[in-house]
Amino acid sequence: MPQKYFLTTPIYYVNARPHIGHAYTTIVADVLARRHRLLGEDVFFLTGTDEHGQKIERSAAAAGIPPQQFADQVSKSFQDLWKRMGITNDAFIRTTDEAHKHGVQKLFKQLYDSGHIYLDSYTGAYCVSDEAFVDVSPGDPCPECGRATETVTEENFFFRLSAFQLPLIDLIESKQFQIDSKQNEVLSFLRGPVSSAGSPGELSRPDVNYSALNNPYVPGTLKDLSVSRSSFTWGVPVPREIEQAAHAKQAHVVYVWLDALANYITALGYGSSDTTLFTKFWPADVQLIGKEIVRFHAVYWPAFLLALNPKTRHEPDHPTPMLSPEEHLVWAKTWLPKVLSVHGWLLFEDAKMSKTKGNVVRTETILDAFGDQVYGRAFPDSSKEQRDLFASDVLRYFLLREIPFGQDGNFSFQALVQRYNADLANGYGNVVSRVLKLIEKKFGSGTAFFQHPRISIMRNWLFLRRPDSKQPVISNNPYEVFYAADGQHKIWNYTFSAGSYKNVLEGIFTAFGQVDEYLNLNKPWELGTEDESSKEKLAEVLYVSSEAIRLLTVAVYPFIPFAAASVWKQLGLGSIETAVEEKQFARPTWGDPRFGGEIGEINAIFPRIYAKDTPAFIKLMTDMEQGKDASLANITTQADAATPTATEFPVTSLASELVTNPPEHFPTTDPAAGSRTTSIPEPNPGTLVAGSHALTTERPAPESGAPGLAPEALVSGPADSSPQITIDDFAKVELRVAKILVAERIPKADKLLRLEVDLGYERRQILSGIAEWYTPGDLLGRRIVVITNLAPRKMRGLESHGMLLAASAPEGGKPSLATFPDTDDLPLGSRLK
Ligand code: MSP
Repeated sequence: MPQKYFLTTPIYYVNARPHIGHAYTTIVADVLARRHRLLGEDVFFLTGTDEHGQKIERSAAAAGIPPQQFADQVSKSFQDLWKRMGITNDAFIRTTDEAHKHGVQKLFKQLYDSGHIYLDSYTGAYCVSDEAFVDVSPGDPCPECGRATETVTEENFFFRLSAFQLPLIDLIESKQFQIDSKQNEVLSFLRGPVSSAGSPGELSRPDVNYSALNNPYVPGTLKDLSVSRSSFTWGVPVPREIEQAAHAKQAHVVYVWLDALANYITALGYGSSDTTLFTKFWPADVQLIGKEIVRFHAVYWPAFLLALNPKTRHEPDHPTPMLSPEEHLVWAKTWLPKVLSVHGWLLFEDAKMSKTKGNVVRTETILDAFGDQVYGRAFPDSSKEQRDLFASDVLRYFLLREIPFGQDGNFSFQALVQRYNADLANGYGNVVSRVLKLIEKKFGSGTAFFQHPRISIMRNWLFLRRPDSKQPVISNNPYEVFYAADGQHKIWNYTFSAGSYKNVLEGIFTAFGQVDEYLNLNKPWELGTEDESSKEKLAEVLYVSSEAIRLLTVAVYPFIPFAAASVWKQLGLGSIETAVEEKQFARPTWGDPRFGGEIGEINAIFPRIYAKDTPAFIKLMTDMEQGKDASLANITTQADAATPTATEFPVTSLASELVTNPPEHFPTTDPAAGSRTTSIPEPNPGTLVAGSHALTTERPAPESGAPGLAPEALVSGPADSSPQITIDDFAKVELRVAKILVAERIPKADKLLRLEVDLGYERRQILSGIAEWYTPGDLLGRRIVVITNLAPRKMRGLESHGMLLAASAPEGGKPSLATFPDTDDLPLGSRLK
């Protein structure tokens, strides 16, 4: 029996149309779902919409339509968007579904019948935006979101949340209920004010008790929770018989959070006559949530589920029975979700994206811009569906690669385009295209290629050992490529479970970079096919590269499924989706004989956006977002990623990225470098900035017939075709005179030098990729020009705080440093303008 895997997203409020914040959670869920299907597990991925409550009722009233109609419209916009993006949810629940409403009523009744719900009346501050009573004085703003609260006096049903304080503390402390990254926050909420409490023996505070793990808590901190509302009607009605039994004076609807949380079980049939799915899939393996709804999921939700245990039945004259931690644990194992996985917010202009602030970015903008303008222009015959799926890959990659999961991250169109070009177009797309074109060119066809006897030997690389693991990596050694590609599959179980999608992607793209470096060092385009030993080498290099690409494509599939599917076809392997269904990938292995037939039609998977077009493309997206009439007349994309056109051959470029940031390996930033989401340098037309340096120094200029991409092809066209910038743009770049005080090599980094420069007002460290051309002795004492206001970047564990200016012709050749004579009496730190 395959292992089951039940995964949920929060259900999205229908008071506003989806934006990329919602898409973020859904994308992460889809990555996990695809990944677990790949492992052969039986996956159920649930998402949906949250349609009741005062907030929705008011939004509908403002729109002048009945709430159901309003909810229908917005819910559809979520469903349509997930379809456009190729999201593979197995169910979409709406809280206005009849089956869900019955399930909620059943849950309410079960809790009422076991004494956990009682009727009372209440006066308090209510935050409509958060749909929660909050503990502030009447008239004060909501402590969570800062919005105005309303004072409400109502008859309410209450849930005995207070009875579950200690069980929750015990379950969380013992990690039986796991809350990734927010555990301490939840525990301090549950424990109350314990800061001055000592350990159990010391008993300095009589109001403090101790948990099973001997941690202090203040009993009574957790208050009972209102679980019905009687001042409006847009919700699931509390069953009439309960209102009668409790002698309610008013009609009640179930509190929207109890209603919403129940979706996770009603979607599986809880409360209906068919509970097959519920029996099979509950409890959830992972529940993904944004950080603002942790309390609802980490306190209320498990408390409701613990209260379903018949042993906790609360009788009128007896308080809720105190169960032992072990008794709770037995219940928790089959009723509580295994992991709450909490992510941070997408910020736009440094604030959480939200409808109220009006700072949202709609996913549709990215789908339309990338789909139509990038993919559509490169492939005019493509369908709308293909364009959407392509663009969805771009967004998926960006969000997961750029934002460390669990933290907040700024979204910017500029960072999106840079990341796209650097990693996808110039990285993955390019390496695939190079290898497949060489196979075609040198062997005529995939079939002829795979017939070469060297390939059956290379298929068995698994049995070889790395000669000496202490030896530095030798990039032209096929073992390194095998090790890099195969290793991704070994480590990803661990990294995925830790939620480190960014690290997983970095690992995969580092491995793509190793394939690229392996190609550059072995130069297969220079090898002929007439001489047998050269042909043998050619077969070896191309097999090792393409097999590594195949393995890495499996690894990257959950993240960028459309691109991976396209590469799979190009490798001649047919449909990757079918391979997933056939469970071919539980542990993909090197040398799989299925990879051995004809290769497919070779196409660019990520058409490149030229640097010169980037500002216009970014403006297009900004305009689209602002609802302006946006059109883009003359952006060109390069469909054939491996064949630069004549106009792409430059010219000398100042401030060449290669001077500061040489790729020691292919990944576009050092794996240790922080997220660039918030630290993107200003655009610098004419030069590729912020990570797009990948491959720029390593790639050989195209030999005749070599499908290698010239470094120049990655940057903008000749200087005279660069877009003009204003003086204000230029003024943003701070160039200053500095003197080199220290220059030294960095162990195991062939191309990097570590410099310390004197700027007059400070001394700083700069890492520079000029070791191939300059010895430390060449540099000491030189007065050079430094860009001083670049965001710091980490390479090889060291931070670089700036960049040297240099020119090289041809591009990629020896850089000549921009220098001032030592005799010049210009003070150090003087600014160039
Ligand atoms: N309806 C409730 C959830 C009920 S679940 C039983 C709700 N809805 S919501 O639409 O406001 O937000 C749902 C989720 O959308 C958040 O938890 C979060 O996962 C995601 N996001 C909404 N805005 C976001 C950002 N700006 N950034 C990242 N995620 C965000 O709360």
